[in-house]
Amino acid sequence: MTKSVSIISSAAVIVALVASCTGAEVYKDPSAPVGKRVEDLLSRMTREEKIWQVTQWTYGKNMNENNVEKETKAVSPYVGSILFRSTNPAYYNMVQRKAVEESRLGIPMICGFDAIHGYRTIFPIPLAQACSWDTDLVEKSCSVTAAESRRSGVFWTFSPMVDVARDSRWGRVAEGYGEDPYLSGVMGAAAVRGYQGESLDSDNSIAACLKHFAGYAYSQGGRDYQYTEISSQSLWETVLPPFEAGVKAGAATVMSSFNDISGTPASASPYLLTEVLRDKWNFDGFVVSDWGSVEQLQSQGVAATPAEACEKAIEAGLDMDMVDDVYLDNLDSLITSGAVSEKVLDEAVRRILMVKFRLGLFEKPYIEELPEEERWLLPEYRTLARNLAAETFVLLENKDEVLPLGKKPGKIALLGPLADNAYDLMGSWNGQGDSSDVVTILDGLVSEYGRNSVKYVRGCPFEGNDRSGFSAAKAAVRSCDVAVLCMGERMKWSGENASRASLALPQIQEDFIREIASCGKPVVVLISSGRPVELSRIAERADALMAIWQPGTEGGNAVADVLSGKVNPSGKLAITFPYSSEQQPSFYNQRRSARPFMGHYQDIPKTPAYEFGYGLSYTDFEYGEIRVNAEGENFVAEVDVTNIGPADGSETVLWFISDHYASISRPVKELKHFEKQFIPAGESRTFRFEIEPGQHLSYPDSNGDMVLEKGTFSVIAGGHSADFELKLPYRIDRTQKQTKTI
Ligand code: NOJ
Repeated sequence: MTKSVSIISSAAVIVALVASCTGAEVYKDPSAPVGKRVEDLLSRMTREEKIWQVTQWTYGKNMNENNVEKETKAVSPYVGSILFRSTNPAYYNMVQRKAVEESRLGIPMICGFDAIHGYRTIFPIPLAQACSWDTDLVEKSCSVTAAESRRSGVFWTFSPMVDVARDSRWGRVAEGYGEDPYLSGVMGAAAVRGYQGESLDSDNSIAACLKHFAGYAYSQGGRDYQYTEISSQSLWETVLPPFEAGVKAGAATVMSSFNDISGTPASASPYLLTEVLRDKWNFDGFVVSDWGSVEQLQSQGVAATPAEACEKAIEAGLDMDMVDDVYLDNLDSLITSGAVSEKVLDEAVRRILMVKFRLGLFEKPYIEELPEEERWLLPEYRTLARNLAAETFVLLENKDEVLPLGKKPGKIALLGPLADNAYDLMGSWNGQGDSSDVVTILDGLVSEYGRNSVKYVRGCPFEGNDRSGFSAAKAAVRSCDVAVLCMGERMKWSGENASRASLALPQIQEDFIREIASCGKPVVVLISSGRPVELSRIAERADALMAIWQPGTEGGNAVADVLSGKVNPSGKLAITFPYSSEQQPSFYNQRRSARPFMGHYQDIPKTPAYEFGYGLSYTDFEYGEIRVNAEGENFVAEVDVTNIGPADGSETVLWFISDHYASISRPVKELKHFEKQFIPAGESRTFRFEIEPGQHLSYPDSNGDMVLEKGTFSVIAGGHSADFELKLPYRIDRTQKQTKTI
């Protein structure tokens, strides 16, 4: 098929052209129901025009070396979507004008972009956001991203990533919400609400995209793009729940993943893309492939030719082809030969048009050409970024309460490769982030304490053997009252195609920490990373240790807020920090083993360094006993938490359920609910968990059908637990459709 639009003479074209010349143009009538507008437009389209609708091209500066396009092509007025990498509204309007004014039917394009944790105001990486346990702030940060994006021509973000990640060697753990399916679903749904707002056609809303559907995080050994081995049980219990939560929250699109599950790549899986997504969950948006994932069906060995790849993907339910032109080049001949029915193409186009109508693109295809200062980095966006970043920090050690530093800490020696570093604090997939916007840790501490109170010496590189800065750093520490070391990962050590065999920091960083600790001054170590790293040896040397992740544009100010004590840290880990790399995969909700106290590695401790849910505060919270009462068909669990320490602070209660015996063995415990509350010093708050058996005590079988069984359950929070009995019969919603196994 040629890439310029020609009017082809087939019966279908004639029908479409006749339709387009006659009758009222319902699709142009904003007062008509969207379904009618879609059908009217579809009936006017030629096959060629439809094939363009299911095609996405990329345009603008490429910022992702893993996804390099073959060439940047002149934009066709007929292309369905553009991966839009410019930030210029005038440029967006120019490109969109081509579609609206130069194509026969004036169908606008939808421009998408990876605004993963911010567009220009960069928020902490999603893994960090999950550690805040603050869905409200997460939702608000996504609203800001939506507003900044839409003002710059981006109507669709390829976010949130809700891949449950349990092997931190996989570089993309940074992009998701950690190891737990429930937390990932709650955070993913908050992100969808934030991006999409009340209505997709509002000036501050964009379409969300749940990715990567499904199972990408199971890449073997944490090596990106590898095969995944996932049992049907794990698929339903762990991989799919966050996607279902995102679909329920109304996500407009879903991205199919690169990986192959049990021999069927996700991008060619009718089970995932049709049976589960549409038939079982009633998803009404469209599915886009990941970058080149249709073409890659050939490398995965399930398609001998691009035509075969095309047929498999579109038949499976994959609606839009990202950048590889496999649909554009093959669909026409496949339909002509009868290998693919035009109805399948119509269905894909219908879904794409539906989202375009819902976004208001037909009514308002263009954007106002606002100056940069009115589009992004507004003061309130920066404040939100600062507040969210401070909430994501996880205090891991605080010996002798060396933190907070307080108002007058004396002189601070600020050291390490991340101390005066703007670029790496942004983290991978930092949208249109610009390091010149970033408040470094040095900036943050200087603005908190004044230039004379902070002595900065880099002292240590990220990696390599250059120890020439050690002695200046040690001299600085000796002349100061406290050392703050900013250590960790470069931005590019995590993210796509950034797997690492070892979670240990380079030897030079550990050596540096050891030498600084030998100076005899209190040592505060901040770890900035996109994944859990090995901390056991570092924790021995540090008086205080805090994970600050990759905190984004306002990272340095947030660090100053927490170190000074203006903000009491309240983050808790959304992912386990293993004792060492060899302990991977390490996650709390393991299925029960035959001999729970045996079988661990002999040569390392059996417990992780810091488990899911761990995190200290500048105050102490005391949990009372859990009370459980039956209320109608439900059980209500309550616990009183008292702030017994010196500072006001926020505490998140994580509620776990443990099902003692079941037909299909259950994990030792599973997170089912959480709540964060602010508790002033000396006061108590009651936390409540209403346990609905159908929702909180049931589990999926390998078909995805929910099972609820009577028996003893424990509800667990803050180291306390209480047992209760579920007696059947209990009503369970069995309206969900049955599916076949994968
Ligand atoms: C490939 C990545 O896997 C995906 O997450 C991203 O959205 C696309 N490229 C588009 O950049």
